[in-house]
Amino acid sequence: MKIVFATNNKHKVKEIKDLLPSNIKVLTLDDIGCFEEIEETEKTLEGNAKIKSDHVKHNYGFDCFADDTGLEVEVLNGAPGVYSARYAGEKATFEDNVQKLLTALKGVQNRKARFRTVISLYLNGKQLFFEGICDGFIEKSVSGTKGFGYDPVFRPKGFDKTFAEMDLNEKGLISHRGLAVKKLVEYLNNHL
Ligand code: IMP
Repeated sequence: MKIVFATNNKHKVKEIKDLLPSNIKVLTLDDIGCFEEIEETEKTLEGNAKIKSDHVKHNYGFDCFADDTGLEVEVLNGAPGVYSARYAGEKATFEDNVQKLLTALKGVQNRKARFRTVISLYLNGKQLFFEGICDGFIEKSVSGTKGFGYDPVFRPKGFDKTFAEMDLNEKGLISHRGLAVKKLVEYLNNHL
């Protein structure tokens, strides 16, 4: 079966394709000719994920899932959260965001943080949500070159290396997105 993953982030597409059975063909926004920007105007991960899956369903007619992820830092009251991609400004790079975070946590002892992913699925007329959480800590400096985003400074709980020091399979087993996708896959396997 075919389903659209409402993203063009190649890292995420690869991560998710690796976690889905091969009989589920994942199409990206580029694959369906959706080149317009879908503005994420909600204040929650659930709201923004739903905006994306709704857009594809209503304008292109495909069943679809979309994810939205935030890094929630305890001492920052859950920031950057839903604003993780734009933490250091609208045009911020991953490096800009990481540097802003390290500066915000300079001298701070409590390094607890978590990644939270919400997947919005629109399938056969039904709207569902799946959540995945990965608890961990923000390191004091960057380590590793794999992954993307905040991976070089996020160390998952129970591990002695950052996400950026893990390969995709290892990260996928414990990551927020991996856990949310696992729930999604279980649902798809039972309802397709
Ligand atoms: P998105 O809503 O899933 O695109 O995620 C928003 C932002 O969170 C991204 O731009 C990244 O900065 C960050 N992010 C999301 N997932 C990850 C991850 O697995 N590792 C590191 N950073 C991530």
